[in-house]
Amino acid sequence: MEEVWDKHAEIWSEWNYSPDMIIEGNNIILDWMRSLPKKGLVLDEGCGVGQYTICLSKLGFKSVGIDFSTPLLKIAKKNRMKNRCDYELASGDITNLPFKSSTFTIVVSAGIIEHFKNTETAIQECGRVLKSGGALFIHVPQKIGVFTVNKLLQQLLGLWKEGYEKSFTPWKIKSLLIGAGFEVKSAKINPIGEGRIPMVGKILKTLDAPFRMVGLGGHHIHIYCIKK
Ligand SMILES: C[S@@+](CC[C@H](N)C(=O)[O-])C[C@H]1O[C@@H](n2cnc3c(N)ncnc32)[C@H](O)[C@@H]1O
Repeated sequence: MEEVWDKHAEIWSEWNYSPDMIIEGNNIILDWMRSLPKKGLVLDEGCGVGQYTICLSKLGFKSVGIDFSTPLLKIAKKNRMKNRCDYELASGDITNLPFKSSTFTIVVSAGIIEHFKNTETAIQECGRVLKSGGALFIHVPQKIGVFTVNKLLQQLLGLWKEGYEKSFTPWKIKSLLIGAGFEVKSAKINPIGEGRIPMVGKILKTLDAPFRMVGLGGHHIHIYCIKK
C-alpha cells in the first residue's frame, strides 16, 4: 500500500496549488476550524505533501503531520520551507499512531479513513489520541452519486491510482463515528470539482444534480465531531 502513495510524490509535486487559494476558497474543514481557539496541538493524519498542514500553520495552529510515505514527507518538508510555515512532521502508521493517548486537541483526517478495510480501527485511533472534548474533522468519499460511478468505471478500466478506497453513505460514516464515542456536530458534502478535464467535470456535475437535490451526490462528506 505504501508504494501506491509513494508514486503520488511525482503526481502531487507537479501540482502547483497555492495554500492561500485553499484557505480563501470554500474549504469546509478550514472554514469550520477558522473560529476555533488556536491552542493545543493539531494532528494532520496522512498529511501527504502537507496540503492541510501548511494551511493549519497559516491559520495559526500548532500542528504535526504524520504519513508513512517517505517521498511524500520529503515534499511536505520542502513545502514547509517554501511556505515559511512551522509544523512538525513524523513518519508512522495511522492504524497504530506513535503518540500517547489524549495528546491532541484536534485531529484532521482528510481523505484517509476510506483507504482502510478496518474502518473502525482507524477511527478508534483518532479517538485514542484526542483529548476528551477535542474535535475530529474528517472527510471521506460520499457513496451515492456520480462520483462513485466514475470511480467504479476508472477501476474497471485500470485507470484508478488511489489503491484500496471505499465510499460511505452519510448515515454509515456518522454511525461509525457515534459508535466510536464521537458526537456529530455538523456534516456537509462538497460538490464534484472541475477535475483535470473541465469538460468531464461539467458533465459529471450535471449528471450529479438530481442526487444533490436530495442531499446526496457530490464528492466527499465532511464531518465535524467531538470526542465525548
Ligand atoms: C488521499 S491522500 C490524502 C493526503 C492529505 N490528507 C491531503 O488531503 O492532501 C492519503 C494519504 O494517507 C497516507 N497514508 C495512507 N495509509 C497510511 C497509513 N497506514 N499510515 C500513514 N499514512 C498513510 C498516504 O501516504 C497519503 O499521503
